[in-house]
Amino acid sequence: MTVHFIGAGPGAADLLTLRGRDLIAASPVCLYAGSLVPEGVLAHCPPGCRIVNTAPLSLDEIMAEIAVAHAAGQDVARLHSGDLSVWSAMGEQLRRLRDLGIPYDVTPGVPSFAAAAAALGVELTLPGLAQSVVLTRVEGRATQMPERETLAAFGATGATLALHLSVHLIDKLVAELVPHYGADCPVAVVWRASWPDQRVIRATLATLQGAVPEEVERTALILIGPALAQEGFEESRLYAGDYDRRYRPVGTHPRFPGTGS
Ligand SMILES: C[S@@+](CC[C@H](N)C(=O)[O-])C[C@H]1O[C@@H](n2cnc3c(N)ncnc32)[C@H](O)[C@@H]1O
Repeated sequence: MTVHFIGAGPGAADLLTLRGRDLIAASPVCLYAGSLVPEGVLAHCPPGCRIVNTAPLSLDEIMAEIAVAHAAGQDVARLHSGDLSVWSAMGEQLRRLRDLGIPYDVTPGVPSFAAAAAALGVELTLPGLAQSVVLTRVEGRATQMPERETLAAFGATGATLALHLSVHLIDKLVAELVPHYGADCPVAVVWRASWPDQRVIRATLATLQGAVPEEVERTALILIGPALAQEGFEESRLYAGDYDRRYRPVGTHPRFPGTGS
């Protein structure tokens, strides 16, 4: 018996890995984390599968579900939205499973920041503009930020920011980020990326407050940084004609002779 933690992706049912799909189809129990896991993903559950929405359950109640499946020798597909490596509450479940000696494995999923970038058709790292993406959030009611993880500290780097769980805190993020990025810095808000009713809002830090309608709440990702403009950057060295590299040796004394093609 194994608990399979599976990233269910950002919303579109076909943004699920083949491995994830096959594990869901082979597991007689499916525990899924609320409305962000699309029904189309649950459609892969086998006939007769015990399907439980864990949104209203406590951690103890979730572990009780897993303990029952464990006693019956039944595999569990444990679904969380997006990828499991960020804001999935997987860590606390894995710790309990380790303590109980219950086996588990982890299958990654498409994270919402990647789905949002795809919706915008942007590369978040552009030569000369940004070479880092910071996945973060504004401090919320349930989760305090560690002391040094401030927006100001991340903003001071000028990296592209991907703000999760923060669309209701726009005043705060604008106030903290304008001193670092400038009021003209491009921003994009993607609501329900990859869902049929996906919405994209483009603004600047100066115009963001008035640009996000009330109904755009909760499932929205905010991307901030100069890379969002997709202009004013250099071409990468990767494809530069004069760049001597392993797969495309250049010149009379290439660094990697005989390794081309
Ligand atoms: C609890 S976190 C889950 C993050 C998830 N594990 C991931 O890999 O993206 C929920 C937050 O992720 C973001 N999010 C999740 N799905 C999204 C989507 N389809 N479109 C935009 N943002 C999304 C929102 O910022 C939302 O508040």
